Amino acid sequence: MQTLTDPFGRRIEYVRLSVTDRCDLRCFYCMPKGFNDFEEPEHWLSFDEIERVMAAFARLGTRRVRITGGEPLVRKGLPELARRLQEVPGIEDLSLSTNAVQLARHAEALRAGGVQRLNVSLDTPDPQRFREITGGKLEKVIEGLMAAKAAGFAPIKINMVVMKGVNDGDVEAMVDFCIAHDFTLRFIETMPMGDTGRAAGDHFLDLGVVRERLERRFELIPGVMPGGGPARYLQVAGTDLRIGFITPLSQHFCETCNRVRLSVDGTLYLCLGQAHKFELRPLLRAGISDADLEDAIRQAIALKPERHEFNDKPGQVVRFMSMTGG
Ligand code: GTP
Ligand code: 5AD
Ligand code: SF4
Repeated sequence: MQTLTDPFGRRIEYVRLSVTDRCDLRCFYCMPKGFNDFEEPEHWLSFDEIERVMAAFARLGTRRVRITGGEPLVRKGLPELARRLQEVPGIEDLSLSTNAVQLARHAEALRAGGVQRLNVSLDTPDPQRFREITGGKLEKVIEGLMAAKAAGFAPIKINMVVMKGVNDGDVEAMVDFCIAHDFTLRFIETMPMGDTGRAAGDHFLDLGVVRERLERRFELIPGVMPGGGPARYLQVAGTDLRIGFITPLSQHFCETCNRVRLSVDGTLYLCLGQAHKFELRPLLRAGISDADLEDAIRQAIALKPERHEFNDKPGQVVRFMSMTGG
């Protein structure tokens, strides 16, 4: 079997596929207020093009695909794309990261379409604070989560970006919420992605502090979870809850990075925190053969940098998170 290995000896077997750069929320730390400079529809990879690129990755050893955005459910026909990706030989793990605003409507079809795992972004269980952070309605997200549970998604992981003075006071309430509903909870440190992410750096909180705070209330024991991402898990003793810590700044995990990102316009980004990229769309639209597409992907992987430099060079990433889906 073929494999993709980067210049630092890391096996690349996980592709994060962004199907749109649009979003139906406006989290203040992600997309600039009033932002409207989205990718032109004629630059969006079609479902046929996406399927072709993912099949090429799968022939090169990719086993996991995570659909992201912007907000992926904003892209019309997403369950149909999921169904097509699930049928690509070699792809064993198809997952989705969503804000869940439109999930109630699509949960059943996504499950039937072969999405196995679901991660939902939710920073607070408080409706007023939710509105302040995202501009949207918490009620829609809760409806989406309940529909996902009813559709049989398990595990459902909640991603909470923890920010000092914004929602750090909600940590315990989120723990209770996740215990009550049998969700996995993951905390994320803010990253200086774009001007919005950098501004949110004023609220940066080292997750070590959150862990210490929780240890005063709970016994936390090392745990594991299905998935292929950078979270480190602890189990809350006496409950089914697992808590994941995603700590790109306080304890980076680049040496185990296994992933690249394909944006909606067909650009491969080799690292979340670096500018290194390789454009596939022009090649696809010039009628590249399957063999040459595989070669192009190998060339792209050769460009993968060793690590992000969020701490040393926080000014360098101009993309904000919604452009590549985290
Ligand atoms: P699982 O397969 O379920 O473990 O998924 P995941 O944690 O990789 O996916 P998810 O979309 O839920 O990612 C959660 C967040 O982790 C993202 O939004 C990013 O903020 C962060 N993250 C994921 N991958 C990377 C990475 O390669 N580098 C950095 N710095 N952060 C990442
Ligand atoms: N830092 C950390 N996480 C971010 N997200 C968006 N912008 C940032 C940032 N600057 C998160 C969202 C969502 C995921 C896609 O990325 O809250 O959970
Ligand atoms: Fe939308 Fe996700 Fe960015 Fe929030 S973090 S604005 S939900 S893309």
